[in-house]
Amino acid sequence: MSRPTSLLRQHMHEALEVIRLTTQSSPSIGIILGTGLGELAERIEQECAIPYENIPHFPVSTVESHRGRLIFGRLAGCPVVALQGRFHRYEGYTLQQVTFPVRVLFALGVRTLIISNAAGALNPLFRRGDLMVIVDHINLMGDNPLIGPNDETLGPRFPDMSEPYSRRLIALAEELALELRLKLQKGVYVALPGPSLETRAEYRFLRLIGADAVGMSTVPEVIVARHMNMEVFGLSILTDECFPDALQPLSLEEVLQAAREAEPKMTQLVTALVARLWTQQT
Ligand code: HPA
Repeated sequence: MSRPTSLLRQHMHEALEVIRLTTQSSPSIGIILGTGLGELAERIEQECAIPYENIPHFPVSTVESHRGRLIFGRLAGCPVVALQGRFHRYEGYTLQQVTFPVRVLFALGVRTLIISNAAGALNPLFRRGDLMVIVDHINLMGDNPLIGPNDETLGPRFPDMSEPYSRRLIALAEELALELRLKLQKGVYVALPGPSLETRAEYRFLRLIGADAVGMSTVPEVIVARHMNMEVFGLSILTDECFPDALQPLSLEEVLQAAREAEPKMTQLVTALVARLWTQQT
């Protein structure tokens, strides 16, 4: 007797069916375009784009300016699929909703996931505008996207987290950054639910427990990607300095400005990484 299909599998299947009415493309590389990777979307030679609201079970964004799209196309010649627009816990979505798009990327055939975000710098040696490769994370969201019934056909009940971020991809990115003469920091990303920013005492605590950067995204998506054994590469743009003894009030405009300024570096590195992965595959 065949195993009963989980509700999650069913939802993935329904989303996939609708996407397949538009494209038969099955890229092996997926990209989550966070704050600061908007520019990369323009570098993708688009084949088609599907608005999130057309895909069954995708969370519906309430903010008009934040309308998400699933983009299929080629980056540096390599077929990719990109999520333009992501969902955050603080918007009121469950972590299952936040990570459903990652499940759909897997159903499409994605096995390597590149994730970007904007984060605050906690390591005093890091500066606003720096790029940081995520080498590990701390989940302080007080929640986990895998809570609930587990579908063993997708991944194990207790997924291993000894190497959430692929050492192979980190090494490759370091090599490329040297070639491109890009300064690249490496560090641990800590995720909090937000939306309020952290107090000085909280920044001191986060530094003390070993974090180099802080943000409100990425970790749920990485957990779900690793649940399905995808290879993950994470990159943060450090948009502000969260140093408890020299803290300035944070303006969203400053964050966006820093993200805009660092964006070309991020775009360059991700494009080079995808190009390299493509030559290794072909
Ligand atoms: N905290 C502090 N600074 C930040 C964050 C955050 O979550 N995201 C981007 N800059």
